[in-house]
Amino acid sequence: GLARLDASKTIIEKTTSPIAKLPKDQLVFGQSFTDHMVEIEWDAKKGWAAPRISPYKNLSLDPATIVFHYGFELFEGLKAYKDSNGNIRTFRSDKNMLRMNQSAERIALPNFDGEELMKVIDKFLVLDQAFVPEGAGYSLYLRPTMIGTSVGLGVGTPDKALIFVIASPVGPYYSTGFKPVALEATDYAVRAWPGGVGNKKLGANYAPCIQPQTQAASRGYQQNLWLFGEEGYITEVGTMNAFFVFQNEDGKKELATAPLDGTILEGVTRDSVLQLARERLPADEWIISERKFTIGEVKERAAKGQLVEAFGAGTAAVVSPIDRIGWKGEDIAVPVAAGNSGELTAQVAEWIRQIQYGETSYKDWSRV
Ligand code: COI
Repeated sequence: GLARLDASKTIIEKTTSPIAKLPKDQLVFGQSFTDHMVEIEWDAKKGWAAPRISPYKNLSLDPATIVFHYGFELFEGLKAYKDSNGNIRTFRSDKNMLRMNQSAERIALPNFDGEELMKVIDKFLVLDQAFVPEGAGYSLYLRPTMIGTSVGLGVGTPDKALIFVIASPVGPYYSTGFKPVALEATDYAVRAWPGGVGNKKLGANYAPCIQPQTQAASRGYQQNLWLFGEEGYITEVGTMNAFFVFQNEDGKKELATAPLDGTILEGVTRDSVLQLARERLPADEWIISERKFTIGEVKERAAKGQLVEAFGAGTAAVVSPIDRIGWKGEDIAVPVAAGNSGELTAQVAEWIRQIQYGETSYKDWSRV
């Protein structure tokens, strides 16, 4: 039979030229990496080869490799945190492994046992643990990636693939408190559509979003608020899921985000915000909704004073407060309270931080 991905077969080759660790204040997201990397090859005739952890290095690939031509690439993003006892914890990695397999399936790349990949990543983290920076907001960003590596220009199912994992020490997204972002509501370019792949973490979903972002930036907005359809449904913000808080007329507040209808990335932070909000916000004061809502509704409710706050949610920034949305030549002002974020935005960021750094234990969300 075909070999399964087996962490117990991992071969470790340690570096002989360790990389100097940067001081914490010089860490830039995704710009420096650790001493080692993970590689696991797959071959349709043999299955998964023994995982290798070896010194960080260039990949060497034939220019006819299928990843360069037809976009056979998917990735994940998750973080490892150092707790106050010096243990290293990853956050909800089972969700990343599940999504990685779903992404692979959609682009005809192989599936694998996610728990085994996490066991390989555990070994990698033990080896490179000195690169996990300590302190609130600091972490080691892990980037598991899979590419199709069969060689040739034929368009078809790759018969070779490679999983690799690299890791980048990162600091707080906002080094001096929250910095709210201004968004341009975008309808001339569409991030995802029904039947498409917007709910998969494919590299191909990201490249086409940069040019619209540059356009928005030229008009003074940092990110796009991605709309869908004639109705102007709010889907995502930049590379994050979007959350809005409304004051309803019955006196309750509503936390709303778009439903998982296939056009929305199934964010781990999105899911964490929803679960914690459902469990911890008083039910007589709050409604937590996964529902469709439009830029028109946001504009109308802002005008009535019913727009309370809004934020993006993702692994990189955790939450990102929003203070302004440009739409059809006008700006919708989004309230931001003291400290540059809404109250709930700050609350969910703190709830998630406590679990990530092992200050609070919650379900099985932290893997030591
Ligand atoms: C996020 O964590 O918000 C992301 O989507 C990762 C980004 C660097 C692509």
